[in-house]
Amino acid sequence: MSPGTDAALGDYLRARRDAVDCALQRMLPPAAGRLEALGEAMRYSVFAGGKRFRPILALAAAEAVAPGDASAIDRAMPAGCAIELIHTYSLIHDDLPAMDNDTLRRGKPTLHVVHGEGIAILAGDGLLAEAFVILSREPDDAGRPEIAARKLATIRRIADAAGATGMVGGQAIDLQAAGHAHDAGGLDAESLRDMHARKTGALIRASAVSGAIMAGGSAAQIARVDDYAAALGLAFQIADDVLDVEGASAALGKTAGKDAAANKPTYPALFGLAASKRLARDAVDAAVAELAREQLHRSRLAEIAHWVVSRTS
Ligand code: IPE
Ligand code: IPE
Ligand code: MG
Ligand code: MG
Ligand code: MG
Repeated sequence: MSPGTDAALGDYLRARRDAVDCALQRMLPPAAGRLEALGEAMRYSVFAGGKRFRPILALAAAEAVAPGDASAIDRAMPAGCAIELIHTYSLIHDDLPAMDNDTLRRGKPTLHVVHGEGIAILAGDGLLAEAFVILSREPDDAGRPEIAARKLATIRRIADAAGATGMVGGQAIDLQAAGHAHDAGGLDAESLRDMHARKTGALIRASAVSGAIMAGGSAAQIARVDDYAAALGLAFQIADDVLDVEGASAALGKTAGKDAAANKPTYPALFGLAASKRLARDAVDAAVAELAREQLHRSRLAEIAHWVVSRTS
């Protein structure tokens, strides 16, 4: 964990990350037979060492709306893992030469460097589809119509977040704006915020909301968790933009300084570093304020929000 993380939260994040890794090992299909190379490529990226922020957020949201109910965590885990697969697919494609053209990810050579572009594209496609296999299969809803209804709501929410008006849409805006950070083709503050909300915020919101839905949260709790995560998603991507400027490749596990080199529209490019950090902290404060409206601020969700802007990787 990063130096700015207190011991108790660090232990919590580590324990949750281990539980997520264990669940992902079980949920992903084995790499075998004729499909061994594809399966190994999928596993290479999934187990390269991500923070597991999105599944941890799903589990924390489940805990927040159903404190002390262990079954809430179990019910939220498949959605958290499915989103981690979608997130990993988005990273594989984000790193391709046709997109950000990165050679380092999660501290390892990117998938297309190791297995070639074709397999990298297909591994991403495979992870996206596998996510929806998991979402529809788990948890078992035989004879439990309320669980089936929660699963359907979760599937819809995650599909929306991953799709053309969510993450994929945000990536398209990013792609078109690359190279235009400092000219008329660039994004103004409102458009930049919108791009971040889509490319990063949508899946982060879907993570928290899925956890709250699967744990049986009330409509009011789910709405507050959604608003919390919208603000948190913005803070997360501003912090990512700042880390690209200030972080070191070794700690980040990805090449620092790429955004400026590609003239990407980012918060530091538009506002400068100091204002970007202030805007990220403001977003965290807004996120925590949303929690307080439903008495959810004593949960791990508040601590996680502060960690998002203090992290170093
Ligand atoms: C990186 O996400 C890409 C963004 C959306 C900013 P993470 O910082 O969560 O990356 P991993 O999963 O820990 O590798
Ligand atoms: C990526 O944003 C968002 C995704 C949907 C993958 P970035 O391009 O800034 O992510 P990194 O910095 O490569 O992880
Ligand atoms: Mg990108
Ligand atoms: Mg990138
Ligand atoms: Mg980045």
